[in-house]
Amino acid sequence: MAAEGERLRVGVLGAGPIAQAAHLEAIRKARNCELHALCDRTEALLHAVAAIHPPARTFADYDEMLADPELDAVVVAVADQLHVDAAIRALDAGKHVLVEKPLGVTVAECVRARDAAAASGRVLQVGTMRRFDEGVAFARDFIRAEVGPLFGVKAWYCDSSYRYTMTDALQPLLRRGDAAPRPPGDPTTDRRRYLLLGHGSHLVDMARFLAGDIVAVQARLVERGEIRSWFAACEFAGGASGHLDLTVAVRMDWHEGFQVYGEEGSVLGRMFQPWYLRTSEVEGFSVRTGQYHRPLGADGHFWRRQIEGFAATILDGVPQQGATAEDGLAALRVLDAIERSAATGVRVAIETAG
Ligand SMILES: NC(=O)c1ccc[n+]([C@@H]2O[C@H](COP(=O)([O-])OP(=O)(O)OC[C@H]3O[C@@H](n4cnc5c(N)ncnc54)[C@H](O)[C@@H]3O)[C@@H](O)[C@H]2O)c1
Repeated sequence: MAAEGERLRVGVLGAGPIAQAAHLEAIRKARNCELHALCDRTEALLHAVAAIHPPARTFADYDEMLADPELDAVVVAVADQLHVDAAIRALDAGKHVLVEKPLGVTVAECVRARDAAAASGRVLQVGTMRRFDEGVAFARDFIRAEVGPLFGVKAWYCDSSYRYTMTDALQPLLRRGDAAPRPPGDPTTDRRRYLLLGHGSHLVDMARFLAGDIVAVQARLVERGEIRSWFAACEFAGGASGHLDLTVAVRMDWHEGFQVYGEEGSVLGRMFQPWYLRTSEVEGFSVRTGQYHRPLGADGHFWRRQIEGFAATILDGVPQQGATAEDGLAALRVLDAIERSAATGVRVAIETAG
């Protein structure tokens, strides 16, 4: 148990857009964290961002940040292909890790991250922050307490073609460095997979968080120019049948949510464009009470709640609500299976070995 008032000293790797728009403010607002360090190899960016969100220390070199004995934990806020390497280096240095989603870009490297986390005895959490949306957390608890064995699960994540109109209005002015490392084979050249992993990691994590493991999928992809729409029928380990819809992007407002049916109740959820920091609208019906139940969810800052949850696990031993390395790996296995099923037209069982 942490001493009263103890704070997790967090360092952020990457001063790019996601750090500026989400993590730095979240850490500074968190009740149990302090912004100890910021690291970016683009020094002009590092200093400009540090002027807005002042850390105790700045570093241009990641290994130097990791060598800081006062640093407890690292937020990995860099491009997807760099996640696993950065996370493992932090674990090897004895630091806890909150890594942006997806955990990695291949199943093999996610297995490495999972094994490294297990061997390190440190906390690794994946940044699928919707788990810290109060409405989503309510839905999960309600499903467990009231809804009984599940038989049907629908979840959808449909980006909006007006997304940047919304985010430009909501986010702070963002700066970019000119030297962000890009691994060989620019991920954005395989745009289909890049979108599947980047957006689908949220959808699959949400479905698993609410309804448990997915054991098989049968998917279809429809492409119309820049529109990509994956529909995946899925089988849950508990026997429920499911349908996931990942569409980038629908010609309308942001469209994200879920419907979960059980033998003793149901839960419906509507989620909003994340940058509004607005808790989902969730309603659960319980046969036991004969009533609908609806939380207020006044605290919509799920990025702040995410880092507070991460710190509470480390400082106070609170069970990890955020996605574990195992969850990050499982999400990647499902996304890989969706990709393969859409390419071949056949049902794909999720690999569990390794
Ligand atoms: N949770 C969400 O909803 C959400 C939303 C948007 C983006 N993201 C995630 O955020 C990540 C991308 O973040 P971004 O757009 O800010 O990335 P970016 O690549 O634009 O910026 C990363 C910064 O990190 C620095 N950097 C990278 N490796 C470094 C190293 N080894 N040493 C020092 N500096 C280093 C770069 O110089 C760059 O300035 C992706 O994983 C994406 O999936 C998550």
